[in-house]
Amino acid sequence: MKRMRRLRVSRQMRRLVRETSVERGDLVYPVFIIEGENIKNPIASMPGIFQYSIDRLDEELDRVRHAGIGAVLLFGIPAHKDEAGSEAYAKDGITQRAVRFIKERIPELLVIADVCLCEYTSHGHCGLVSHGEVLNDETLPLLGKMAVSLAEAGADIIAPSDMMDGRVAYIREALDKAGYSNIMIMAYSAKFASGYYSPFRDAAHSAPGFGDRKTYQMDFANRKEAIREWKEDIEEGADVIMIKPALAYLDIVREAADRTEYPIAAYNVSGEYSMVKAAAANGWIDEKRIVMENMTAIKRAGAKIIITYHAIDVAAWLKEQEEMDE
Ligand code: PBG
Ligand code: ZN
Repeated sequence: MKRMRRLRVSRQMRRLVRETSVERGDLVYPVFIIEGENIKNPIASMPGIFQYSIDRLDEELDRVRHAGIGAVLLFGIPAHKDEAGSEAYAKDGITQRAVRFIKERIPELLVIADVCLCEYTSHGHCGLVSHGEVLNDETLPLLGKMAVSLAEAGADIIAPSDMMDGRVAYIREALDKAGYSNIMIMAYSAKFASGYYSPFRDAAHSAPGFGDRKTYQMDFANRKEAIREWKEDIEEGADVIMIKPALAYLDIVREAADRTEYPIAAYNVSGEYSMVKAAAANGWIDEKRIVMENMTAIKRAGAKIIITYHAIDVAAWLKEQEEMDE
């Protein structure tokens, strides 16, 4: 008789036949950097996550280093915002300074720079706005400038999250022209207009001042359109394809993994994090179990890279696990 349970008889047997594993090398940890001095601001909707001023960033970098995490994703929060998001591409902008600081402290830590205008614009949209409309082609040069200035500061990876059409090609060309042909582009290819981003908008002060992002971020009802999006980004020169959010979109992650030969990243976003933290704080779920289950599910769906606010905890749990298995 065929018995499935033979595969499950003991911990070592289960370990032997396990098909998916999460590694510390898969993890990317997002970091929020705010203008000012001596700041470590807790973000109420994201327990355990803080905004740091650059002079306090060492504390966070120590945690990253200690956890054995190899990559961070940076979000800068400037003191001054304007219509054109000028701080986004200023030589001494908050994010540019943060990149320099981190690369000086830990040169081998991969720094991924999110490229988008919404943290820097007074209206909070991801592109230039005219008569209540988010302009596409007029936004591209600003994204190009932002990408180049972040590469100049030392960023290893540029991650455009704006969802303007043609931005990957524009940024690739701008980087190449400026002599940064080795800087990789991790494109937010299928980025859905999602309610799961709300806590992030508190963390990064980037909520749109009017309207919503539905004219540029994707309709979450669409799968075929997501395929068109990453095909386009690959043609334009993307090196890594990102799907965002992760958990409610694992079908899209699987689709991308099956249909492309490119590394897939999944962004386990702020709302996904906050829901787990809230339930765990109430004692309704076991945080470690749920988080490891979520991480494994993202890998099982076909992602290689997981961007997650849980990264430091996950890294610690994986270390524990390795020691137990020895
Ligand atoms: C900027 C950006 C956002 C996130 C990553 N980059 C916010 C948004 O599009 O509104 C969301 C990340 C998260 O929710 O954790 N465009
Ligand atoms: Zn944006």
